[in-house]
Amino acid sequence: MASITIRNLDDAAKERLRQRAARNGRSMEEEARVLLSHLELPASGEKEETSTLMPPSPRLRGEGKGEGHSPPGQTLAGKRLLLIIGGGIAAYKCLDLIRRLRERGASVRPIMTKAAQEFVTPLSVGALAADHVFTDLFSREDEQDVGHIRLSREADLIVAAPATADLMAKMANGLADDLATAVLLATTAPVLIAPAMNPLMWDHPATRRNRATLARDGIRFVGPNGGEMAESREAGIGRMAEPLEIVASIEAFFKSAYLPLAGKTIIVTSGPTVEPIDPVRYIANRSSGKQGHAIAAALARLGATVRLVSGPVSIPDPEGVSLIHVETAQQMKSAVESLLPADAAVMVAAVADWRVESEWAQKLKKSPGGAPPTLRMVENPDILAGVGHHAKRPRLVVGFAAETQDLLANAKRKLERKGADWIVANDVSHTSGVMGGDRNTVRIVSKRGVEDWPDMSKEEVASRLAEKIAEALSPPSALPGISPVSSRHPRA
Ligand SMILES: Cc1cc2nc3c(=O)[nH]c(=O)nc-3n(C[C@H](O)[C@H](O)[C@H](O)COP(=O)(O)O)c2cc1C
Repeated sequence: MASITIRNLDDAAKERLRQRAARNGRSMEEEARVLLSHLELPASGEKEETSTLMPPSPRLRGEGKGEGHSPPGQTLAGKRLLLIIGGGIAAYKCLDLIRRLRERGASVRPIMTKAAQEFVTPLSVGALAADHVFTDLFSREDEQDVGHIRLSREADLIVAAPATADLMAKMANGLADDLATAVLLATTAPVLIAPAMNPLMWDHPATRRNRATLARDGIRFVGPNGGEMAESREAGIGRMAEPLEIVASIEAFFKSAYLPLAGKTIIVTSGPTVEPIDPVRYIANRSSGKQGHAIAAALARLGATVRLVSGPVSIPDPEGVSLIHVETAQQMKSAVESLLPADAAVMVAAVADWRVESEWAQKLKKSPGGAPPTLRMVENPDILAGVGHHAKRPRLVVGFAAETQDLLANAKRKLERKGADWIVANDVSHTSGVMGGDRNTVRIVSKRGVEDWPDMSKEEVASRLAEKIAEALSPPSALPGISPVSSRHPRA
């Protein structure tokens, strides 16, 4: 029987075939063969078989160009996948998998085991992923740059494909002697594996034990399928699921994913405000918007409808949030208030305390021998206090306190004065490197006490804060306060 090109089928047919194949423990290609073998076919051949089974694809009808399939939808837009490639013959399928994932809008950050590099090169993987390929636990550059702990945290889903017998054994036993296994052990992200191995390895009592352990640990599986092994004439269960089956599993995971903030609307402010002096000069601060934007994105990933009000920043807009650009504190206040009511407000922006009383209409000029101008300042509206005491006050109000001294005392005073539930206090003195930097060390102050978080990336602060907000908002009766933060996703 000639080969069957599944990708030429239309999406609905592909989905039906995928479900049948998964139910029967077969690859999609195999399932198609089984279906075809049940049909009464003319002896003439397979072209007709294919057309009997499914409507012909545009390419078969001669309508398409190039590959003949319409580009898939952005079903994985904004999803951050960490792809661990193990050392099996099926590693070659990862090249196609990466392509499929990226064309659906996912970002793919690859890690390759040492053995994987015997099968495909980091060069090909990196070129398709358009990202650096991580291979070494002890790489000084990678460790300084990203680090294995951050790699493990900055993913919405970790996918191991192919997951070798060896990789599964290490995972089941908590070994961490290379980058892939260290990341898998350090992660709080959900994990999906696509096992691929010889049928005897799959059926070995050791692998059976490891499979059971991994399933108990909440690891998700896609495949393996039955069929002939690529490297031998042996047949049985052990073939890695096809790239499109893995993609479908990933899509299904995100569809049913953990979205504890679905249905909640959250206002976030971010960046600095700029207060004009004259048409060319202004007063601003060093806020980059990195922390506020990361929080907006993290809340959106948990399903919230996020309205981000941002001062001028030079970083990209976060995925999945609606954005209002403002410049001054007064504009930010009106934008925020126009967005009420909301379930929560997270006020991260570094709002200027003062503005020049009246902006000069023309550029201020130096005059020979003249005195420098005196800027008369007036106080800006306090946006956090405005929201904290507003008639339409959100159920949860979170403020940020950027301080250079007496961090805790100032944060506690702010909590009271501004009517906030939590103040996230961070030290922004020059030596801390927080303003404009990528890391942050924060303390969460509430009426119930103070929670100290260790130094971490701003992304990680954002994810943990989003989880904490989700916990505070989820049970209708819950009162916002300090409670243990869980960044673990349910994996069942
Ligand atoms: C040609 C060849 C093909 C292999 N294919 C597989 C395979 O499909 N699945 C598997 O579990 N191991 C396979 N192995 C063995 C693994 O490469 C070996 O167990 C290795 O230590 C796995 O390392 P890793 O888990 O760190 O990637 C193969 C080895 C060779 C030489």
